[in-house]
Amino acid sequence: MLPQYATRLVAAGAAAASLVGPVLSATCQSYTSYSQYRHEPYSTGAYALSYQRPEPACRTFNSTAVEDAILQIKNLTTDPDLFRLFENTYPNTLDASISWRGFAANNTEEELAFIITGDIDAMWIRDSANQVAPYRSVLKSKDDDIASIFRGALNLQGRYLIISPYCNAFLPPPEANLHVQPNGASYAVTPPYDHHVVFTCNFELDDFGAFLQLSHDYYTRTGDVDFFGKFQWIQAIQSILAASEALRKPTYGPDGAWIPPAYTFQSQTMTAFGTLGNNGMNYPVNYTGMVRSPFRPSDDAAIYDFQIPANMMLSRYLEATAQIMEKLPNAPQGLAGEMREMAAGIRDGIEQYGVVTAPNGQRIFAYEVDGFGGQNLMDDANIPSLLSAPSLGYLEANDTIYQNTRKFVLSRSNPWWCQGSVINAVGSPHIKPGAAWPMAAIMRAMTSDDDDEIINSIWEVLQSTDRFGLIHESVNSFDASQWTRSWFGWGNAVFGQMIMELAERKPELLKESFQPRHRGSL
Ligand SMILES: *[C@@H]1O[C@H](CO)[C@@H](O)[C@H](O)[C@H]1NC(C)=O
Ligand SMILES: *[C@@H]1O[C@H](CO)[C@@H](O)[C@H](O)[C@H]1NC(C)=O
Ligand SMILES: *[C@@H]1O[C@H](CO)[C@@H](O)[C@H](O)[C@H]1NC(C)=O
Ligand SMILES: *[C@@H]1O[C@H](CO)[C@@H](O)[C@H](O)[C@H]1NC(C)=O
Ligand SMILES: *[C@@H]1O[C@H](CO)[C@@H](O)[C@H](O)[C@H]1NC(C)=O
Repeated sequence: MLPQYATRLVAAGAAAASLVGPVLSATCQSYTSYSQYRHEPYSTGAYALSYQRPEPACRTFNSTAVEDAILQIKNLTTDPDLFRLFENTYPNTLDASISWRGFAANNTEEELAFIITGDIDAMWIRDSANQVAPYRSVLKSKDDDIASIFRGALNLQGRYLIISPYCNAFLPPPEANLHVQPNGASYAVTPPYDHHVVFTCNFELDDFGAFLQLSHDYYTRTGDVDFFGKFQWIQAIQSILAASEALRKPTYGPDGAWIPPAYTFQSQTMTAFGTLGNNGMNYPVNYTGMVRSPFRPSDDAAIYDFQIPANMMLSRYLEATAQIMEKLPNAPQGLAGEMREMAAGIRDGIEQYGVVTAPNGQRIFAYEVDGFGGQNLMDDANIPSLLSAPSLGYLEANDTIYQNTRKFVLSRSNPWWCQGSVINAVGSPHIKPGAAWPMAAIMRAMTSDDDDEIINSIWEVLQSTDRFGLIHESVNSFDASQWTRSWFGWGNAVFGQMIMELAERKPELLKESFQPRHRGSL
């Protein structure tokens, strides 16, 4: 992400007043600056973590379900620092990221929610899905307060996916009446897009997976099938299928003739990962059944376009949401079948081309391949990652290839493994070597059944916040005072999710002490 291009949104006063809100008081400090300072009262453990929730009048959404969950976790935990980190992070999306809520101009029943990624005032499809997803733990019915956030996010994401399926971050909808500055950076992209709608247009396949996963979460928790037939969800799925099909095409046709790709991207940037080589087309690919993802979940350019984790996610959630599609009376004939067929084709492609031999002779998943035999062996902290595969529901954690892959990812054989005295976790070329991502330590805990490994991962995350009590994007693995992004909404959300899942899965671990003397030996 590119904070330097961030635009500030300014509510256009009277016009916005008729909408659901929020129109925060002018005295509310922006959370971007609020999160840069520590606030009392500090937690009473050794980490003295800051209290980071804005005062109630400055929160962007109130949910009794989420407040109840915070009290519940308070009861389950004994470590004051652990509870403080949860208390700050779990409600963070609601406290600070719901930039606007309202209804579609042409349908007074269609809820919309514009959810910003944190310190950048644009809505990323993936980030917004991941910022809302952790609330599935408290979502029980379509009448819950929090259900409206799911529907609002899905409706707006659906609209964006119909307008520009290859773009990843968007400006507020016209209904919000927010003054916006189009992104001033210079990009050359095909297909072209509207600069008043789109903020950035890096095509990242996991955006499709994120939308489908959030759809699945909402459906399985509420059973509200009618919602999916009412607005633009079916068209959004058609847009996803068409865009994916176009990016399954190989670089050369059966007669060897070059096939121009459906999507290209070039930008002026200081970083090689900020643009695509080969005139915006990236490296050639052979047919595999998988879908190209020229950019990664980090927004960095891929080396090889078939990103295995994003294809896992797409396959798993196309399959899952086909179950919704087949229940919709107004769905076009055969659409659910098309979703299943693509899901199966991608899964076959992963098995055939995505499983490779590691230097130690074990079979593991590659991070990226090109279908010609090119393979990139690594993992990146951003989700979907290889580490996250069981959390995506693509496979069981006891899968042999996954376990081999996990050992590789959490070892010095992974070029982005960051080891140190503060935190040991996967990093990302999005920052630099040696900068571990707490989000990857959180994902390690989420995908482990080993109590010591879970406790140690949480301990490292607690130690990594530099007493701010929020999840940083990356942290120098030897020095907690060197970190990036004071406000990283996605990371906060994933920490809250991990604790909520642990409360179900292994509540006894929440009773542990995470104070310094309890350091494990990993
Ligand atoms: C949340 O509740 C507080 C009072 O506790 C109120 O001042 C604030 O306006 C509410 N926020 C929204 C978005 O409704
Ligand atoms: C927390 O525990 C107390 C005492 O056991 C109990 O009375 C209360 O209902 C619990 N609250 C929640 C939200 O679970
Ligand atoms: C409603 O407006 C949205 C966004 O402007 C548009 O994409 C959609 O097609 C419209 N729906 C109808 C039924 O006109
Ligand atoms: C690449 O695709 C071509 C054409 O379909 C095929 O002949 C060739 O075997 C493929 N290469 C690999 C490594 O699969
Ligand atoms: C893997 O775990 C699943 C349940 O999560 C279980 O049904 C299956 O038998 C396990 N497989 C092996 C090989 O242990």
